[in-house]
Amino acid sequence: MAKRYFIHTFGCQMNESDSQRMGEALARAGWGPTETAESADLVLVNTCAIREKAEDKLYSALGRYRLLKASRGTRIGVAGCVAQQEKEKLLQRAPYVDFVLGPDQLARVPDLAEQGGVETGWVDSEEYVFPQADPQSSRGRATAFVTAMKGCDNVCSFCVVPYTRGREVSRPYAEIIREIAALVNVGVREVTLIGQNVNSYSGGCSFADLIRRVDEVPGLQRIRFTTSHPMDLSPELVRCFFEVKRLMPHFHLPVQHGADTVLTRMRRKYTIAQYEARIAQLPPGVALTSDIICGFPGETDDEHAQNLAFLRRTHYDSLFSFIYSPRPHTGALLKLGSGTEWAEIPRELALQRLEEVQALQRARTLQRHAALTGTEVEVLVENAQGPKRFGRTRENVAAHFEGDAQVGDVVRVSVEKTGLMALDGTQTGILNQAPFTEVRPRRHLAVVSA
Ligand code: 5AD
Ligand code: SF4
Repeated sequence: MAKRYFIHTFGCQMNESDSQRMGEALARAGWGPTETAESADLVLVNTCAIREKAEDKLYSALGRYRLLKASRGTRIGVAGCVAQQEKEKLLQRAPYVDFVLGPDQLARVPDLAEQGGVETGWVDSEEYVFPQADPQSSRGRATAFVTAMKGCDNVCSFCVVPYTRGREVSRPYAEIIREIAALVNVGVREVTLIGQNVNSYSGGCSFADLIRRVDEVPGLQRIRFTTSHPMDLSPELVRCFFEVKRLMPHFHLPVQHGADTVLTRMRRKYTIAQYEARIAQLPPGVALTSDIICGFPGETDDEHAQNLAFLRRTHYDSLFSFIYSPRPHTGALLKLGSGTEWAEIPRELALQRLEEVQALQRARTLQRHAALTGTEVEVLVENAQGPKRFGRTRENVAAHFEGDAQVGDVVRVSVEKTGLMALDGTQTGILNQAPFTEVRPRRHLAVVSA
């Protein structure tokens, strides 16, 4: 019987996609996927380093997997951003880990699984060869992530990503288009172009041009992308939202804070006025989402009030908000505690501010969703179980509904009930049928934890 692997994925879409590539590399070396860590010969933890909490999750997961190793000899590997950040130190802290591999070493996973070791070299140049997706592992799925670029050249003072993912390297556009065409061939209908900073893409054309080229792939229904830095938002990209019909009306454009003084300390390179001027150019109907950090070093009551005032006048469709977490190798950590400007914010106060931000957004998101009750929305079906269907609206809102559509169909859903996280309703019609009627059960590749 083939050896079995299980991948536990933390963090962002980049990691989800990397887990899929590692699963494919293992499959090529004769490994098969399994549903649970308990039945695996190899457990691979793909980690996130963005906040301390994410790192803590790694160590508590490893604690569980260690017991499996003791009882059945399971091999344990650690991949992703914490692997890149900690390198050999990880083996000192968790000596039962067999191997450690960084995000640029995905293809090495089968060798490392056999031999053990630490591979965290990264390839920072145009010589980097992006791992090609095996379209077969996306068969039966309606959506797929497609890597457009990797790394980040910004220097935001809170962020560990330039350290864990290296410098920006763009993937040549012809390779991206080929991959998308192959995915469409096995039934994929929506692609999300991913990268730490996709709108600074430079793989032979601009990001706006890349979107227009993707739009020419026959059979593709929906295009999305994430994530973007406000300073790289070009007028051409804004034009895409007006002109490219298959580009979905959703834009995640993290602002991080509503006070200029905090943005300066964060080294974000824009002012709130510039940010507001840019989003004002977007066509009406584009759902705008963002990230906010509360309790950044030195954040005063007045800066927090400016943050709330900004959020009150900016109508985000939804918002991810976090408490600042000091990260190794970052500018803010170096300055943390040096004078009042960089004073550490007590956790209680940061939490209180976070709650205020979240309460404001919660009310707004609830209201936005409630306004959809009684309307019809367009949904791409991603999952089907009995009569239950799941998918996302054009604006990227999750929708649960009853119907008989196939995975991959685009349907009309009448919205009956709404909540904070999703809409509930009933299918009222099929707008566009998936070209494939055979739907294979979704192959298990990875478990994802937020
Ligand atoms: N502390 C808290 N939040 C952070 N983010 C990035 N680094 C940190 C940090 N050190 C948030 C930012 C980013 C999102 C992915 O995570 O808001 O946009
Ligand atoms: Fe993704 Fe950043 Fe977390 Fe790495 S640290 S997994 S790039 S969110």
